[in-house]
Amino acid sequence: ASAAPVRADAARCPFDHSALTGQTGPTGCPVTAGAAAFDPFEDGYQQDPPDYVRWSREQEPVFFSPRLGYWVVTRYDDIKAIFRDNLTFSPSIALEKITPTGPEANAVLAQYGFALNRTLVNEDEPAHMPRRRVLMEPFTPEHLKAHEPLVRQLAREYVDRFIDDGRADLVDQMLWEVPLTVALHFLGVPEDDMDQLRQYSIAHTVNTWGRPKPEEQVAVAHAVGNFWQLAGQILDKMRQDPEAPGWMQYGLRQQREHPEVVTDSYLHSMMMAGIVAAHETTANATANAMKLLLQHPHVWREICEDPSLIPNAVEECLRHNGSVAAWRRLVTADTQVGGIDIPAGSKLLIVTSSANHDERHFADADLLDIRRDNASDHLTFGYGSHQCMGKNLARMEMQIFLEEFTRRLPHMRLAEQTFSYVPNTSFRGPEHLWVEWDPARNPERTQPALLRHEQPVRMGEPSRHTVSRPLVVARVTRLTRDVVQLRLVSPHGAPLPRWQPGAHIDIECGDTGLSRQYSLCGDPADTHAFEIAVLRDEASRGGSAWVHDHLREGAALRVRGPRNHFRLDEGAPKLIFVAGGIGITPIAAMAQRAQALGRDYVLHYCGRSRADMPLLAALQARHGARLVVHAKAEGQRADLAALLATPQPGARIYACGPARMLSALEAATAHWPADALRTERFQTDAPTLDPAKEHGFDVELKDSGISVHVPPDQTVLAALKAANIDVPSDCCEGLCGSCEVRVLGGAVDHRDVVLTRAERDAQDRMMVCCSRAAGQRLVLAL
Ligand code: HEM
Ligand code: FES
Repeated sequence: ASAAPVRADAARCPFDHSALTGQTGPTGCPVTAGAAAFDPFEDGYQQDPPDYVRWSREQEPVFFSPRLGYWVVTRYDDIKAIFRDNLTFSPSIALEKITPTGPEANAVLAQYGFALNRTLVNEDEPAHMPRRRVLMEPFTPEHLKAHEPLVRQLAREYVDRFIDDGRADLVDQMLWEVPLTVALHFLGVPEDDMDQLRQYSIAHTVNTWGRPKPEEQVAVAHAVGNFWQLAGQILDKMRQDPEAPGWMQYGLRQQREHPEVVTDSYLHSMMMAGIVAAHETTANATANAMKLLLQHPHVWREICEDPSLIPNAVEECLRHNGSVAAWRRLVTADTQVGGIDIPAGSKLLIVTSSANHDERHFADADLLDIRRDNASDHLTFGYGSHQCMGKNLARMEMQIFLEEFTRRLPHMRLAEQTFSYVPNTSFRGPEHLWVEWDPARNPERTQPALLRHEQPVRMGEPSRHTVSRPLVVARVTRLTRDVVQLRLVSPHGAPLPRWQPGAHIDIECGDTGLSRQYSLCGDPADTHAFEIAVLRDEASRGGSAWVHDHLREGAALRVRGPRNHFRLDEGAPKLIFVAGGIGITPIAAMAQRAQALGRDYVLHYCGRSRADMPLLAALQARHGARLVVHAKAEGQRADLAALLATPQPGARIYACGPARMLSALEAATAHWPADALRTERFQTDAPTLDPAKEHGFDVELKDSGISVHVPPDQTVLAALKAANIDVPSDCCEGLCGSCEVRVLGGAVDHRDVVLTRAERDAQDRMMVCCSRAAGQRLVLAL
């Protein structure tokens, strides 16, 4: 369903775009053929938005769409930067009609007194943040817990209704109504008018993000007008009993204290928009997730067998096939996006579903990988100050629905069908999802006890420790006296993610509680296996000994990753690789890549003796004269200071090896440009947190508009998690780089071993698991 890639210079744009400012392409027309053909109301976009704009992500990540009158943005970094800056990129048009309606429809809307105005999602600063703050409490994990029994009860009842039928349309028979009921409860709305609301809310989606034909516009306008009036009536009823539970009642109570923040116009608009925000998003997200999982039967089987995978599977489904495909922003001042000039007044369609498939951020992005450890970096919930407030309610619902399905209907499969979508830019989910199964095989018929199990709901971002993948040792090869190479494969033969040189995996050492990081040293394109080489290190804390003692051929183990914080700069004109002993593992993959790219490179490999240097023969065969061996036993000890005496402009040095060697390299390159040396370390000498030696400080979160205090006995990471802010983390020792956050102000006391000297000195990012404020305050881009 993808648009064919189009070359910019072949474009002959059929549209009048005289309204466009200044920018012209090679044909004198600023609009390429791909941009001219872009039509988000077409079935191709509906079926698979990230695939539909793949050409753009790859060739023209920011383009003007004459059909839509919008600039379209498709890459992760560009979109995140837009979300970060809600002053230059105003959310005010988020709920504006994307297709302006004709006078007749407008007259109908006026007749109903329709005045949908600012809520939260389309409110500008400075009004937005104070409102978000006073309305946040019902969304915190403690308060959301109260909704869990209802979600569980509804999921149980709806599945009961069809479990003996052998066939169901999950959308019509469950996924539409349950999130609607939950949304109404959350908001505090009585259930009476549910059917009516159901019709109205679809009309609202079409009215806002769709392209109704002129004859449909009037019918849509009537439905939207009725929805508006009903919302007003419900709100009036609520005003009589503002102490009742519900987010809207909470808003009414807050209005008493902050009338200028929680206005009447806000409450009426939110009464309508809130139902849609909480309902359709979640219904569609679950339908998309179920479709995706059932299209990958081996993944479905895995989560049926191990429901602890559900929280991350939900996150990965939100990334891969989320329910909000694109969002909108209005440009308030002349600016640039991805290097393209965009004039003030331009409208942006930011295709978040495309960002979620951007290879620059998600390795092997099209692969559905429920163990992907950065799945929750997806932008389906938006990001920053407007990030979805209901994300944890949505996550809870999706986890509970998936739990109910995997436990009670593990044998379900997709029925033959074609999927249809309501044509619109943003809210996306199949209108029907037919599944079938053999009711005679329903597990609860023979094991009624399984209905009593309950998988705990994970609030917030899933823990990286729950996403390990089971692998099996396919081969053990002894490389030297104390180094073994392991070839690890998936037990089901399922493909493993592709990786880039420099990537590592984490091996969990049985139930010792230890986990160890090992660089991948095989062929990155081989999706059948991960290869690592492990040195038995007697001085280690036991991880390598565990690997050597337990990992025989056929042994099962659990692995996290791959992850890469040691990326090769493929554009560098000269690459110098330095490996010490077992540190050759990431370097071997990098040097192979440098060779494949035809780069100028040299590989210095240091070790005690040739017999102790893993992979040496293979490296010699591959790299010939570009490999320089420094074997101590032969008196060839590397003189790093002499080798690196003269800085080479543009050259990059990648090094991995013993801490002593890396420190010597740091000294030897002190006079090189500050970011020339890049190292990978798997150990830190930083001591653990000693509250007696630390001071407390405040962290201001720019994107979220809140401030968090970090006491002396807490890490920044722990303080952020307590404040409901999602920050990925893994090693918690400053080794892995997962918890990196951008720093906007304040001095950082860096304690990690991930950043280079230049990166530390720039003071613009930090690892929040271990690094702290040097002073009293830090400002973070979160
Ligand atoms: C905002 C998506 C579920 C309430 C948003 C935004 C998106 C979004 C894209 C705009 C973010 C931005 O501008 O940065 C989703 C998805 C959901 C979901 C994909 C389900 C999978 C919910 C639920 C609720 C909710 C269940 C309420 C119970 C809100 C609110 C905002 C919002 C109040 C406005 C926040 C602000 O502007 O400060 N959501 N949402 N959402 N969402 Fe959700
Ligand atoms: Fe690994 Fe912070 S979690 S560096």
